[in-house]
Amino acid sequence: MQSNRESIHGTWSSRWTFILAATGSAVGLGNIWKFPYMAGDNGGGAFVLVYLACIAIIGLPIMLGEIMIGRRGRSSPANTMKILAIEAKASKAWTLLGATGALAGLLILSFYSVAAGWALSYVFNGFQNITAESSTASFNELLSSPTSLIFWHTLFLVITIFIVARGILEGLEKWINTLMPMLFVIVLLLCIYSTQTGAFFEGLVYLFQPDFSKITPEVMLEALGQAFFTLSLGMGAIMAYGAYMPADQNIGKTAISVAALDTGVALLAGIAIFPIVFANGLAASEGPGLVFVTLPIAFSSMPFGVFFGTLFFILLSIAALSSSISLIEPGVAWLIESLKIKRITATLGLGLVAWSLGILSALSFNLLGEFTIFGRNFFDATDFLTNQIMLPLGGIFIAIFVGWKMKKEDVLEELKIKEGLLFKLWYFSVRYISPVMVGCVFLYFFF
Ligand code: TRP
Repeated sequence: MQSNRESIHGTWSSRWTFILAATGSAVGLGNIWKFPYMAGDNGGGAFVLVYLACIAIIGLPIMLGEIMIGRRGRSSPANTMKILAIEAKASKAWTLLGATGALAGLLILSFYSVAAGWALSYVFNGFQNITAESSTASFNELLSSPTSLIFWHTLFLVITIFIVARGILEGLEKWINTLMPMLFVIVLLLCIYSTQTGAFFEGLVYLFQPDFSKITPEVMLEALGQAFFTLSLGMGAIMAYGAYMPADQNIGKTAISVAALDTGVALLAGIAIFPIVFANGLAASEGPGLVFVTLPIAFSSMPFGVFFGTLFFILLSIAALSSSISLIEPGVAWLIESLKIKRITATLGLGLVAWSLGILSALSFNLLGEFTIFGRNFFDATDFLTNQIMLPLGGIFIAIFVGWKMKKEDVLEELKIKEGLLFKLWYFSVRYISPVMVGCVFLYFFF
């Protein structure tokens, strides 16, 4: 059985590849676009503190669990859950976790692709003579044009589909290794620029000085959702990648590296952006346009800004691509295995669903602006449903499966560790802390 699973799936050629692929999935718009604007919407430091706590206490343990499940099952998330449920003599209903995860991935992809389209369109921004006003105006102009939004959304999805249709192994390995470090360098450069804006300190205080009165149930749920979103947790993306991980790789260390890199990029993006916001008299609570309004101002006033600005948005688009691939892959792998259809058919089918839903998201900024679901436009509603509900719920179930359903010997065997202190801490976290804390945040928010 084991060798058969290996031969369907193959494993990655080097131990770096899992880290690169998982980091490629984790680092994306979530870090550079979403984290800063959510921090700004939710009052800065308080949000950041809860977010960091969610990453360390809930996200990291669940990430370990998700990778472990993936590697043990060596299939698409849905089939992996089935295989492991049978092994653990648990109900086959656990397959549903993989199935709803694949659905969550498609829903996320639909609006993710719209925002990634903004990044693509900014490659052609020009980055010259940009002021706070003109920058705000050009972003609003983009949002108000259905044809531009749909064009860029379509282009982004077509590229995603193309890469996924060719097969993930060949698709991924080449891209990520050189381009991600470059993105990191430009974000660092932006941080250096921010020290020169005159509002660097103000930005840091905003990000890192928590005002505890701002921690509300809503802020908690948003921070929790963002922790899952940014680490790509709770829907099987990391599970799907875990399936390709070499058997002798240390899961714990790997999860820590991925989470640390991901968190580092998000914090640096925040450090770069908020000083620019304050120095230019912009509002921190600008919303989804925050990065797109602020960074062009910075690029237009730095030496070689046209070059760096263009390169930055190219790299950001590629970072978004290495994330979007992992949003569609769980569903694609599942369709291939269960329906025995071709990869290209599966990818096109699911891509079409994401594309159609994405159209509604794109139009929610203009033509469908009045159409709301529980007070949110389609874009925000999809975002809320997936990130704040489906991912944390998926996370609870992953934690419960690992902590309560899988046999402890199997868990230890897969992690290849002895039952030491670290294991005990982690095991306690997936058994009790993660499910209880996520449950409490839900209860707080909804009641
Ligand atoms: N983590 C990615 C980002 O920060 C987005 C992403 C990719 C994702 N795969 C995922 C989010 C799976 C949730 C689940 O941009």
